Amino acid sequence: MWLIYFLCAIASASSLVTIQKPSYEPTWESLDTRPLPKWYDKAKIGIFIHWGVFSVPSFGSEWFWMSWKASNQSRYVDYIKNFFPPGFTYQEFAKEFTCEFFDPDEWAKIFKNSGANYVVLTSKHHEGYTLWPSKYSFSWNSMDIGPKRDLVGDLSNAVRKQGMRFGLYHSLYEWFNPMYVDDRRSNFTRKTFVDRKIIPEMKELIEKYRPDVLWSDGDWEAYDDYWKSTEFLAWVYNESPVQDTIVVNDRWGIDIPCKHGDFFTCQDRFNPGVLQKHKWENAMTIDKESWGFRRNAKLSDYLTTHQLITTLIETVSCGGNILINVGPTKEGIITPIFQERLRDLGIWLKVNGLAIYNTTPWKYQNDTIGQTWYTTSTDSVYATTLVWPKGGILKLTKVKTSFAKLKSFSSVKLLGYEKELTVKVIADEVHVLLPSKDLVKTDWAWVVRFKYNELITEYI
Ligand SMILES: *[C@@H]1O[C@H](CO)[C@@H](O)[C@H](O)[C@H]1NC(C)=O
Ligand SMILES: *[C@@H]1O[C@H](CO)[C@@H](O)[C@H](O)[C@H]1NC(C)=O
Ligand SMILES: *[C@@H]1O[C@H](CO)[C@@H](O)[C@H](O)[C@H]1NC(C)=O
Repeated sequence: MWLIYFLCAIASASSLVTIQKPSYEPTWESLDTRPLPKWYDKAKIGIFIHWGVFSVPSFGSEWFWMSWKASNQSRYVDYIKNFFPPGFTYQEFAKEFTCEFFDPDEWAKIFKNSGANYVVLTSKHHEGYTLWPSKYSFSWNSMDIGPKRDLVGDLSNAVRKQGMRFGLYHSLYEWFNPMYVDDRRSNFTRKTFVDRKIIPEMKELIEKYRPDVLWSDGDWEAYDDYWKSTEFLAWVYNESPVQDTIVVNDRWGIDIPCKHGDFFTCQDRFNPGVLQKHKWENAMTIDKESWGFRRNAKLSDYLTTHQLITTLIETVSCGGNILINVGPTKEGIITPIFQERLRDLGIWLKVNGLAIYNTTPWKYQNDTIGQTWYTTSTDSVYATTLVWPKGGILKLTKVKTSFAKLKSFSSVKLLGYEKELTVKVIADEVHVLLPSKDLVKTDWAWVVRFKYNELITEYI
C-alpha cells in the first residue's frame, strides 16, 4: 500500500515538471495539426501482410466470404457447391487456418532482408476474425480456433527483434457481425457495434501491442461520427501509450480518405505520379489480383522485380512510402515467389538505398526524356533510370539548371560503380556517360548520384 502511494507521489511530481504537450481536441481541425512522427517519412518501405481465415479457401481474394454469401458471384457459389458438403459455412474454414509452419523469426528475416523498415499485419480483416486473443471476439480469434496462437504477439516480437517497426491493420466494419448489421439497419443512428466492439477492441490492440502504425480500413459505409473516429484519435494522440510514435492512415469514415490522417492512402495502389502536398502511402500488392493468398495465381499475376522497383521509385520520388503486400498461406508459408521478389528488392536497395531512405522529393520528380525519377538528400540529387539508356548515355534535362548555377558537382557517380563518370552539357541536356553495363553491380534500375560541393539547404 505504502509503495503505491509513494509511486503515485513520484508520478504526480514528475508530471508537474514535464513540458506541457499539445492536447488534441476530437475534431479534424485539431487532429490535423499533429506533426508526423519523424521515423515514418524516413522509413519509406513497409511490408503489408494479409492473413486470416480467407487464407484457407485462398481462392479469388480475401473477399471470399462476401463474394460468396452477399454478392452471390457464381465463381464462388459454384466452388463451394462443387467441393464442399451441403450446408458448409465460412466459419468452418477457421479450423483449417493451422499456421503450423509459421516461424515469425523467419518471416521477420525475409522482411528485413527486403530492405523494409516496418511491417503491417491484418490484425482483423472484414471477416471479423482476430489474429490475437481479443476479449471482444469470442470464439472467432486465433487462440480459440485455428492455430491456437497469438499471431499478432508472435510476429510483433520477431519484427521488433530485427529492428523494424510494427504496425496493425484493423477493419472497422465486419460484413456479417449482427451488431454491425443492426446498426446499419438504423442508418447508423444506433452505435452498439462501435461502443461495444470497435472502440474497446482498438484500445485493447493499442495497449497490448503498442503498434507504430494503425492502418484503418472498412470505414466506407458510415460517416466518421458513427465510428467515433475523432474521439478515438484524440485518445490515441493524447493518452495512449504510443502517442509520440504512432502514425495512422486516413480511412476513418465516408469523405475522410485523402483528407485527414497522419498519412493518406486515398485508394488501394494509390500512385499519383506527381508530388503530393501531404505525406502519403502507396499500399500495393505483389499479386496484382489479390491481397490474400491465392492458390491458383499464375506467374503473370505477380509483379516482376522490375515492376516492383519501378513502383517503389515512382512512389518515393513523389513523397510517398510504399507498403508492399504479401499474402501468406494458411500453413504460415510465404511462398518462394514472394520471397524472391522481396529478396531482389533487398539486393537492389543494398546498392541503391541512398536514393531511397532518408530522401525527400526534389524540385522535379521525373525527367521528360527517358524514364528517370529524382530524389534528393542534403548533399546530393539522385537520378534513377528505369531503363539502361541507349548507347550507355543517360540524357537528362532537369539537372541542367543546377549545373549552370553551381558550375560543377564535386562528384557524379553511378551507385554500385566506383569511378567518377564523365558528364557533358549539350544544348539543353546533360549527358552522363555510363560504364559498360556488365561492370555495374545491380540490375533493374540505376542511380546516378550528383553530389554537390557544398551542402544544399534549399532546392536548386
Ligand atoms: C444473395 O443471396 C442471398 C441469400 O440467398 C440473398 O439474401 C441476397 O439478397 C443475394 N444478394 C444478391 C446481391 O443477389
Ligand atoms: C442516413 O443518414 C445520413 C447521414 O447521417 C443521411 O444523410 C441520410 O439521409 C439518412 N438516410 C435515411 C434513409 O434516413
Ligand atoms: C514526368 O513529369 C511531367 C511533368 O514534369 C509529367 O507531365 C509526366 O507525366 C511525368 N512522366 C511520367 C512518366 O510520369
